[in-house]
Amino acid sequence: MSLHGVITGWGKYLPQRVLTNQDLERIVNTSDEWILTRTGIRERRIVGDDESVSTMAVEAGRRALEVAHLSPGSLDLIIVATLSPDKLIVASASLVQDAIGAKKAAAFDVVAGCSGFIYALATAYQFIASGAYRNILVVGSEAVTRYINWEDRGTCVIFGDGAGAVVVQANEQATDMLHFLMGSDGSMARALYVPSPCDKLTEMPQDGHLHLLMEGREVFKFAVTTMAEASRQVVKEVGLQLSDIDLFIPHQANDRIIQAAAKSLGIPREKVYINVDRYGNLSAASPPVALCEAVEEGRIKEDDLVLLVAFGAGFSWAAMLLRWSPGLA
Ligand code: COA
Repeated sequence: MSLHGVITGWGKYLPQRVLTNQDLERIVNTSDEWILTRTGIRERRIVGDDESVSTMAVEAGRRALEVAHLSPGSLDLIIVATLSPDKLIVASASLVQDAIGAKKAAAFDVVAGCSGFIYALATAYQFIASGAYRNILVVGSEAVTRYINWEDRGTCVIFGDGAGAVVVQANEQATDMLHFLMGSDGSMARALYVPSPCDKLTEMPQDGHLHLLMEGREVFKFAVTTMAEASRQVVKEVGLQLSDIDLFIPHQANDRIIQAAAKSLGIPREKVYINVDRYGNLSAASPPVALCEAVEEGRIKEDDLVLLVAFGAGFSWAAMLLRWSPGLA
């Protein structure tokens, strides 16, 4: 008997503290007008002092389990996609597993830049299709602002914190996941990274600070081209047309990147989901938070064709086509 994965639950968590562009004007030499016209971001959330990737993942994960009507004890696996784990040694997924009481679940993290959630989701579907597991919690959770150099105006205006989660469950009939693709170009690692204390000593930053470093223009060019190409490819390979898509959920990095990608694909504005204005770039949490909000706002209905696409550090990229059918399981 073959098993098929389907998303049956979704949830999100955004920290309470809001940092507006006006707040940033008081911290660094920038302006609301510059940030808005160059990125489309108005405000972002900042992780609380008593919060972390695992605590936010727990909140989002609990909500997703409630929607799926699934108890934590039924989970076989927890995957957390993150760039900002609580600890370098210990998967944040293990902390989530303990906190929610998922006693029989295996747990691991996925590190694939802002594409990490789609990588993790694709992995979950494989575990179900192989027959290994039936109930999987997939989370994207980020506290990237902890890496931010608040004197670097090129990066501090862009990122925000939060978490999104989905439950993927096995059923005997069909899957909602029509196709996915993932890619990597490690030659561009230096365009967007955070140094690690475990790197070659010659690679350590002179000032000893482990801040996020980014070549904004390089990333921008890569983002537009890659999101458009990955979207075209994933739709073509499954024999569909871009015009068949009901909702396009691109990685919420920058409104200009989103609009350029959508334009190149010929996807009209009303079919593009956008929340970058409220949250900034949530890294690996961006796709699940956007997916969750789109469902909650009624932007996705049963049987809709949804295209998720993301790019990020690595460079990495990933795209996934879903035929939304939570009722299957
Ligand atoms: N406020 C005011 N001025 C700023 C600024 C800020 N926050 N950040 C940069 N500037 C200045 C620069 O210093 C530069 O000034 P100069 O011309 O006097 O040297 C000028 O604005 C233009 O800088 P540039 O880097 O060319 O701007 P840009 O149009 O490329 O926008 C980003 C910068 C970062 C918004 C844009 O490159 C971007 O979004 N890149 C992708 C980033 C991304 O998505 N990262 C995450 C990937 S998952």
